[in-house]
Amino acid sequence: MPRSTFSKTFVESHKPYVRDAVAKLAESADQLTPRLAGFVVDMVCATMIDVANEFGVPTYIFFTSNACFLGLVFHLQTLADEHDVDVTELKDSEAELFVPSFVNPVPTKALPRTLMEREGAALFANLTRRFREAKGILVNTFWELESHALRTLSSYGETPPVYPVGPILKLKSEDEVHVDPEQAGKKKSDILKWLDDQLPSSVVFLCFGSRGSFGEDQVKEMACALEQSGHRFLWSLRRPPPKGKITHPSDYADPTAVLPDEFIRRTAEIGKVIGWAPQVDVLAHPAIGGFVSHCWWNSILESLWFGVPIATWPMYAEQQMNAFEMVREWGLAVKISVEYGSVFHSTAEERQLVLIAQDIERGIREVMEPDSTVRKRVKEMSEISKRALMDGGSSSSSLGRFIDEIFL
Ligand SMILES: *[C@@H]1O[C@H](CO)[C@@H](O)[C@H](O)[C@H]1NC(C)=O
Repeated sequence: MPRSTFSKTFVESHKPYVRDAVAKLAESADQLTPRLAGFVVDMVCATMIDVANEFGVPTYIFFTSNACFLGLVFHLQTLADEHDVDVTELKDSEAELFVPSFVNPVPTKALPRTLMEREGAALFANLTRRFREAKGILVNTFWELESHALRTLSSYGETPPVYPVGPILKLKSEDEVHVDPEQAGKKKSDILKWLDDQLPSSVVFLCFGSRGSFGEDQVKEMACALEQSGHRFLWSLRRPPPKGKITHPSDYADPTAVLPDEFIRRTAEIGKVIGWAPQVDVLAHPAIGGFVSHCWWNSILESLWFGVPIATWPMYAEQQMNAFEMVREWGLAVKISVEYGSVFHSTAEERQLVLIAQDIERGIREVMEPDSTVRKRVKEMSEISKRALMDGGSSSSSLGRFIDEIFL
């Protein structure tokens, strides 16, 4: 089954279970237990609206990405339904698209790959039509970061009210999958102990999430870039899953096998190569001065929260678009690449897409620059993101309005 239809089938097959569970809840309700007021569903579960409708209660969507992206999907669905425009024809072209939620024209190469393929575009258009049926959309963002995009969200025809309630973060590192907690705990304390010995803002952190791994050619370029930059580094290097298998990357038993000869020995004084990383704990550490990131939305929100500037290296899903937003729209990141991985599925093209050491090194130097404008802006946004959640802050007020609306 193609990955794009998997989530749809998955959600459909769960409707009966959700219906049963909610029916039980509703039956057992009495004066002491709260009544069912509505559903809040993840964006990919929007068709659960059908079940909520059976119970006669409203549904709210929790949109786990940003408002620029929400604007994009509304825009593409409007283009398809009302203007008969098929943007998948622009796939792999140099074209740029004007999208109201963005200030700048967006290169089609920075758009999520799925949206540029027929099946994925149809799937998302269906999903987006369901968003319009919701009573409201909660977005994991905050007004001060995305005021432009949020202001435009009422310009795509009939859309429900939007509540920016972010950044919603889990400020406790995820445990590594499939590893016993004791081992993970040991790895974590070893990493943090190493960071304790480093000067403030002196270490660049490279981490590409639970699905991020690279071929050997690319790993060698990264190693070369790190060595040339001369900066201290903490590098989460993962082994790609076996060819043809859809599973998560794992840790190398011995990373020296894929690294340049003697790399570990030469860099022993300045760097540490690790496998899985407790990302939140690392970003929170004062020794971290820059973050080479795949730009998953949660990673971006975490990095902004801790005031660590990002060098963008997107890989899949809407990461290219997030990288574009960070670099071009908001001036909150430096660029290593914005388009990397936009032709992810074709191995022939993928091979050409090895980023060379010089480009990576330039990005690392830039993100580690002590007095850069980007660093200053990120520090400011860090404060603003924290204020948004405080009493009277923008997201806190927005959440209050949402709660008032449900219990009216
Ligand atoms: C979109 O919805 C239509 C109408 O319900 C359906 O026929 C079609 O298969 C759906 N497309 C995808 C890709 O899910």
